Amino acid sequence: MSLKNLKIKAEKEVKQARNLKELDNIYKKYLGKKGEITQTLRSLKNLPEKERKKRGKLANQVKQEIEKDVEKERKKLQSSIRQPADKFQKERVDVTVPGKKLSLGNLHPITLVKRKVEEIFLNLGFSIVEGPEIENEWYNFDALNILADHPARDLWDTLWLKTKTQKLLLRTHTSPVQIHYMEKHNPPLRIIIPGRVFRHEATDASHDIQFYQVEGLMVDKEVSVANFKAIIQEFFKQFFKKSIEIRLRPSFFPFTEPSFEVDMSCLNCGGKGCSACSQTGWLEIMGAGMVHPHIYKSSGLNPKMWQGFAFGIGLDRLAMMKYKINDIRLFYSGDLRFLKQF
Ligand code: PHE
Repeated sequence: MSLKNLKIKAEKEVKQARNLKELDNIYKKYLGKKGEITQTLRSLKNLPEKERKKRGKLANQVKQEIEKDVEKERKKLQSSIRQPADKFQKERVDVTVPGKKLSLGNLHPITLVKRKVEEIFLNLGFSIVEGPEIENEWYNFDALNILADHPARDLWDTLWLKTKTQKLLLRTHTSPVQIHYMEKHNPPLRIIIPGRVFRHEATDASHDIQFYQVEGLMVDKEVSVANFKAIIQEFFKQFFKKSIEIRLRPSFFPFTEPSFEVDMSCLNCGGKGCSACSQTGWLEIMGAGMVHPHIYKSSGLNPKMWQGFAFGIGLDRLAMMKYKINDIRLFYSGDLRFLKQF
């Protein structure tokens, strides 16, 4: 077949190609290793020089033209394939894909512990009371017998607020709510006061600038340390779901007299001594004492008429024991890997 006819034939076939594979085959048929044009070019060497030059030129021209045609057609085919496919991909709704699981949040471990503590004390006849996180010196210190210039003030490293008129601070404990409450309510009373408190302290595994306390207050005509022991023992029993021993150690708080530190038998070793309790068998868990007369006076009550006990439990401490957490800072880190475990 003449080169000219070969070209016409090739052009026609290229145009008729319905897809890239067909086009590829057409390309091979003419321009592949054993293609018709390729073979023509190869056979040139057998021709006399004059003829070779003429035919060679023509053959190369035809080759280039067919190549161009194929390229053009390839682009056409490609774009016509891609467009509808792309559109389809974009609009496609795969109804067989399983639904996305909504991730439900969960309660913070401190919240869980706080609710448990509240539940237990509610059942023991206590009410739940709250108070402000911003206090003045009177409620946080003076009313509680923590007088200015008394070294006891240093026990509560304070975060002061920048204010123009009266001196304000972030409460360092929940004890000021004792005063707020007794200003408005006459005994007999039984309350617990859960809430956040703040201390100006360097942070480490057991200290943070914020943490939670539960204050307890029971006032009546005749309330004794025995009542306190009974209630706290019952609380621990219910909270840890096992019998816990407690012991009172003499201590000092300006707002209680006598004051004591309450230890509970170590959950880990049951009192034998281990690393969790520094080999003592005991864990310090709260401060407590019999309400100091000064507190009744600050609240407008007659100290001769009333007796009571008060205590302050660290909620973070309880949560750390219950869930075996070794760093208080984890509670406030906002790390979901930690928080999702509860
Ligand atoms: N308010 C004390 C503290 O923050 C705890 C406490 C409360 C002690 C009530 C005695 C009675 O350390």
